[in-house]
Amino acid sequence: MKIAVTGGTGYIGSHTVVELQSAGFEPVIVDNLYNSNQEVLQGLYNITGRDIPFYNIDCTQEQAVRELFEKEKFDGVIHFAAYKAVGESVAEPLKYYENNLGSLIVLLKVMQEFGVSNFVFSSSCTVYGQPDTLPVTEDTPRLPATSPYGNTKAISEDIIRDFVFSKPAIKAISLRYFNPVGAHPSAEIGELPLGVPNNLVPYLTQAAAGLRDTLVVFGDDYDTADGTCVRDFIHVVDLAKAHVKALELLNGQSEPNYYDVFNVGTGQGNTVLELIKTFEEANNLKLNYHIGPRRPGDVEKIWAQSDKANTVLKWKTEKTLADSLRDAWRWQQKITKK
Ligand code: UD1
Repeated sequence: MKIAVTGGTGYIGSHTVVELQSAGFEPVIVDNLYNSNQEVLQGLYNITGRDIPFYNIDCTQEQAVRELFEKEKFDGVIHFAAYKAVGESVAEPLKYYENNLGSLIVLLKVMQEFGVSNFVFSSSCTVYGQPDTLPVTEDTPRLPATSPYGNTKAISEDIIRDFVFSKPAIKAISLRYFNPVGAHPSAEIGELPLGVPNNLVPYLTQAAAGLRDTLVVFGDDYDTADGTCVRDFIHVVDLAKAHVKALELLNGQSEPNYYDVFNVGTGQGNTVLELIKTFEEANNLKLNYHIGPRRPGDVEKIWAQSDKANTVLKWKTEKTLADSLRDAWRWQQKITKK
């Protein structure tokens, strides 16, 4: 089955391409390289032994997407391509709404035109905001987003649901990711942040590699075990495998208007300081870090209840936080040498 993977040269997209390929799907990458690098294709070749087809296309360009769907006969779409920098989205909201919603609408329209029925969407636990009760289930109410980026995820989920229920030929799943970390164990692919990383683990590994002076821990006065924020850190390979399970579920789904959402997390929360300690132990090194002020907009604590994904998607995590942080460090060492 041929699957269009938009954003397939990105961090989660590239790991998903590997898992699709090894599960017998035929991934085709559609990416405009806005926030990724074509070198990823070599890494994918080194892992899979196959040249994964790649199209440099911006998914907001309807005619280009249509021509692609004419050429390739897709059986499904996994849609990763989106802007994802929370701070930038606050400064430039229209850029985020135009790109993240525009590409989604183009893809759904073209899928309908070509009779492609299976759609998997990259959503985020950001749609829950700071929930009242933890862990969060899929029924935990979504809260108003704290950033335009987060809002594009919530609005996208609604667009997909409305579309599915109006067009019986479309089936879709939104996966709400918790915090993806780590890299492929081969160190052939991983996260490639452009500029100064916003996210914890790429910043931490750059600090460990000496590319940054010190890691700043944003706040230690939260209402958590050690005062630092709690997140559900999930190995990116485990997360990638959830997409394969989602496609398999859609393929076997006979109900015409099928739409569902799944939390994709480990079910376990760890504080930022616990993550730092695990990184140090797993890699046998000492990290230079200090405590700084809180980062505005950060949620205090969130972790997933992943029972629904375990039972309905038949998916569960296989890797530990230490595995993630060993793989993240192996990857960082490889890209530092380049
Ligand atoms: C954010 C977004 C999430 C998005 C994800 C991936 C929100 C509220 N969260 O998640 O939607 O999917 O990025 O792009 O919009 N930290 C430090 N020092 C650092 C960096 C981070 O202490 O240098 C801390 C943060 O305060 C936070 C934790 O590490 O407590 C994780 O931060 P980060 O990796 O940026 O992810 P989130 O903010 O959870």
